[in-house]
Amino acid sequence: MSRFNHKVVMVTGGGGGIGEATCRRFADEGGQVLVVDSDCAKADSVAKAIVAEGGQAEAMLLNIADQGACHDVVEAVIGTYGRIDVLVNNAGINRRGKLTDLTSSDWLTSFDVNVHGLFYLCGAVIPHMLRDRRGGAIVNTASQWGLHPAPGHIAYNVTKAAVAAFTQNLARDYAPHNIRVNAVCPGEIHTAMLESGVARAGSTLEALASKVPFGRLGKPQEVAALIAFLASEEAPFMCGSLVEITGAQAVC
Ligand code: NAI
Repeated sequence: MSRFNHKVVMVTGGGGGIGEATCRRFADEGGQVLVVDSDCAKADSVAKAIVAEGGQAEAMLLNIADQGACHDVVEAVIGTYGRIDVLVNNAGINRRGKLTDLTSSDWLTSFDVNVHGLFYLCGAVIPHMLRDRRGGAIVNTASQWGLHPAPGHIAYNVTKAAVAAFTQNLARDYAPHNIRVNAVCPGEIHTAMLESGVARAGSTLEALASKVPFGRLGKPQEVAALIAFLASEEAPFMCGSLVEITGAQAVC
């Protein structure tokens, strides 16, 4: 497939997990991919691997919680490539615990990255998408837990609920300008974030997988395929959707 030929695609958190799989998917389908991450080495390694395999990718260092840096990176991309067709707001963090386990810093940092980062980047990118009535697609990575909260993750769940609300608000405001905004809401996907949660809980990957009706964890590539679909011209009437990808797992 070459759904993203001549498209410029920015993916945050592209240095690992779901973001890395998403960068690879867009590159496989012809996109010019900007691998954005706060971890420079990880972004570099993903971009280099894509280029070595014949794709087009560039690594960009960015902490999405820094509004000035978001603006500067977007302007640099526009200066080089002239446009951003697809923005995938995937970077996120998970500060685990109940309310009384969390510090103010855990709470505020969760909002800085998971919510304010999206405000900053969308605020920098959308004016360019509006230019010349070009439009574009934005896909946000929310979470199943933003819709159905799991116990012991209040900061994460509340910020992901905000991502879901942010998605639907943006969608309604910019659909008339041909900017489609959707979100994916994954369940248990096997990444570094999930492994750290399993380790913290003193559990095992097998025990977690047994709670999923399919008997296995989701793969980052499976979420990447959904993100690419939502961003593609195969989904022209999808806007404001919060799509769960969970293997039918119930939150408990
Ligand atoms: P991960 O921890 O494996 O990868 C996240 C990437 O984002 C890392 O490369 C990290 O360096 C980068 N990042 C973190 N903070 C950043 C910042 N301030 N600025 C720029 N980059 C930053 O995580 P994973 O599992 O791939 O998660 C990706 C997204 O999917 C997150 O938004 C997460 O909340 C969401 N998600 C993950 C699920 C899972 O089971 N793994 C389930 C539901 C949602």
